[in-house]
Amino acid sequence: MTYARIIGTGSALPEKVVSNFDLEKIIDTSHDWIVERTGIERRHICDSDETISMLATKAARNAIEMAGIDPEDIDLIIVGTATPELAFPSTACMVQRELGIQNCIAFDINAACSGFVYGLGIAKQWIESGTAKHVLLIGADTLSRVVDWNDRATCVLFGDGAGAAILSADEETGVLSTHMHSDGVGTNLLYATSSLSETDNPPKIRMRGNEVYKFAVRSLSDLVAEELKENNITQADIDWFVPHQANLRIIKAAADRIGLPMDRVILTIQDHGNTSAASIPMALDVAVRDGRIKKGHRLLFDAFGAGFAWASSYLVF
Ligand code: UT7
Repeated sequence: MTYARIIGTGSALPEKVVSNFDLEKIIDTSHDWIVERTGIERRHICDSDETISMLATKAARNAIEMAGIDPEDIDLIIVGTATPELAFPSTACMVQRELGIQNCIAFDINAACSGFVYGLGIAKQWIESGTAKHVLLIGADTLSRVVDWNDRATCVLFGDGAGAAILSADEETGVLSTHMHSDGVGTNLLYATSSLSETDNPPKIRMRGNEVYKFAVRSLSDLVAEELKENNITQADIDWFVPHQANLRIIKAAADRIGLPMDRVILTIQDHGNTSAASIPMALDVAVRDGRIKKGHRLLFDAFGAGFAWASSYLVF
C-alpha cells in the first residue's frame, strides 16, 4: 500500500502585526471582548505591496527545503484559497512560475477555511493511485483584503498567511483517512462578495456569526467523533490535534467531545487570528519547527468554513 506522507512543512506571515489594542483605536471594540469571545490577541496583515502568491511561494520554499526534494520532482501543486489575487490564472500557477517548475500540474481549490484539508484529500488520492509522487499542498488566504473594516463583528477575526506541506509517496504510513462534508445551507450565512460582483465592490465579508458558530460547534464535534469511530481509535491514539483556528471556544468544544486535554492541542489563534485555509498548515509548521510534532506522531486535523464546507484527517506525520 502506498500512502501520502507529509515530509516537509513551511509557512509565511506578513510582517505587519495588528494587535487588539490597535483595533480599539479604529473601531468600537476591546481587547478583552476579542480575547474572551475568540482567543485572538493579534493577527498579521498584508501591506498593499504584499500578495497571496508571495506568501504562498515563501511557505512553499520553506516546505521544499525541509523535505529536501528538488522542486522539479513536484508533480502537482494545489493551493487552497478563497482569496486569489486574480480571478485567473490560479495562484497555484503563479507559485509554479515563481518556483520555476516546468513540468507539473497546478490548480486552486476553493473550500474556504477547509481548503487545506480538502486539498489533503485530493493529494492523498493522487499519491495512492500512483498518479503523483510528490505534491506541494498550500493553504493561503489574505482575508484582510475582503474584510469590511467598519464591521466590528468580523474585522477583528481574520488575519493573513500561508502554510505549505510536501506530501510524498511512502510505503509505510502517512495520511490514514480524510473526511469531507459540504452543506449549501450556509451560503447566505458566511460569504465574501467577489471583485467581479457589481453589487458590493470592493468585496466584503458578511457573516451571521452566531448561526455559523452553532453549526461549526455541532459539525466539528460530530466530525472528530466520526474520525475516531471510523479509524477505530480513541483520544489516546492522537498525539496532537491541529484544528482550524477560528475560535478558541469552538476548538475546546471539539477537543472536549473526544476527551482530549488542551495540552495536546496546537493553538496559534492568539497570534494569527483566523487565517482561513492557511490556519492548519501554519499551526502544523509552528509545532513541527518548535519540536512538539515529531516524525511518527499521530495527528488529527479538523476544519470548518464557508459553504458550509468542513473536513478532517487522521494521519501519521
Ligand atoms: O472560519 C470560518 C468559520 N467562522 C467561524 O467559525 C466563526 C463563528 N462565529 C464566532 O466565532 C462567533 O459568533 C463570533 C466570535 C464571531 C462572535 O461571538 P458571539 O459570542 O457569537 O457574539 P455575538 O455575535 O452574539 O455578539 C454579542 C455582542 C453583541 O452585542 P449585543 O447585541 O449583545 O449588545 C455584538 O454587537 O457583542 C457585540 N460585538 C462586539 N463587541 C465588541 C460583536 N462584535 C464585537 C466586537 N467588539 N468586535
